[in-house]
Amino acid sequence: MTILVTGGAGYIGSHTCVELLNTGYDVVVVDNLCNSKEEVLHRVKKITGKELKFYKVDLVNKAELTEVFRKEKIDAVIHFAGLKAVGESVSKPLEYYYNNITGTLILCEVMMEFGVYNIVFSSSATVYGNPATVPIREDFPLSATNPYGRTKLMLEEIFRDLYQSDRRWNIVMLRYFNPIGAHKTGLIGEDPKGIPNNIAPYITQVAVGKLDILGVFGDDYDTPDGSGVRDYIHVVDLSIGHVKAIEHIQHNPGIVVYNLGTGKGYSVFDLIKAFSKACRKDIPYVIKPRRVGDIAACYAEPSLARKELHWSAQRDLDEMCEDAWRWQSNYPNGYQNDKEIL
Ligand code: NAD
Ligand code: UD1
Repeated sequence: MTILVTGGAGYIGSHTCVELLNTGYDVVVVDNLCNSKEEVLHRVKKITGKELKFYKVDLVNKAELTEVFRKEKIDAVIHFAGLKAVGESVSKPLEYYYNNITGTLILCEVMMEFGVYNIVFSSSATVYGNPATVPIREDFPLSATNPYGRTKLMLEEIFRDLYQSDRRWNIVMLRYFNPIGAHKTGLIGEDPKGIPNNIAPYITQVAVGKLDILGVFGDDYDTPDGSGVRDYIHVVDLSIGHVKAIEHIQHNPGIVVYNLGTGKGYSVFDLIKAFSKACRKDIPYVIKPRRVGDIAACYAEPSLARKELHWSAQRDLDEMCEDAWRWQSNYPNGYQNDKEIL
């Protein structure tokens, strides 16, 4: 069975390619490399000892995408490709709507032309906006506070309309909480461009000496220690969730949505402590004002995925930090190679 992975050179996509190949699927990656490097795919092959096919194609280029479907016999699609920086989406909304929405519309059109109706879509916990309570269940009200979040919300709606129009579609929408960590080998991991916006790569870059000090965005939230609480999930657990979704889609027609989180909330200070332990260094930090748009606490009620996908996160916070640190210390400059490995 062949899975097309859009955005397969990215952070979550590359880890998912490893799990798909290890499970025995054939993998075809489509990525325009706007936020990733082809090197990651060599490392995926090195980790798994298996081949995959790669097409440097932009989803908005319908002719090139059609060519991929013509050449490869695709059975299902996992759709990661998209732009994901919240701040950038506020300053470049048209770019975000064009890339994320148009790219997905074209992907679905081409899938239909080739009779491929199985898709797993990357949504986000951002679609819950500022939830009234935690843990967050899939049936909580949805909202968005920025263009990035709105693309996820709109795409969820578009998928619902698509399913209404044609019941041949089988759609799994996965709402990720906060993926962190890296593959155990330390060969692949998160490689953000420029100064990281997200906390985990920021901390590891402080630990490795690339950044001076972490800013903690607020210590006066209504949380146990005053800092923001999130559901950090190991990227390998998240990737295994996609393999389970691909298994599910083959036997359970319809459209479904699942939270992929651990169900546990950790604060910024918990994370700093866990990373200090993993890298055996103090992480210097300074308290800063709250970041606009941040919420106090966000963690999943993950039991629906446990029940229906037979999936639950297995890796704890210490393991997430150890694995992220191994990747960061092996490759301080990410895929901008300082060590030749191949
Ligand atoms: P990433 O940026 O590392 O990976 C996305 C990949 O898609 C990149 O390799 C990029 O080059 C590619 N891409 C973007 N637009 C494309 C296009 N038009 N055509 C072809 N390729 C294109 O991001 P990630 O962290 O791996 O996230 C994957 C998906 O999961 C995204 O849709 C993101 O919005 C979603 N998500 C991520 C997080 C997170 O914290 N990382 C949380 C929730 C949801
Ligand atoms: C952010 C996005 C969210 C997106 C997710 C994954 C925002 C407002 N939200 O989630 O839409 O789905 O990334 O890409 O950008 N923090 C610090 N110092 C930092 C960075 C973060 O204290 O330098 C704190 C934040 O206030 C928060 C926690 O760390 O409490 C996690 O932040 P982050 O990693 O950016 O993820 P989210 O904000 O949860």
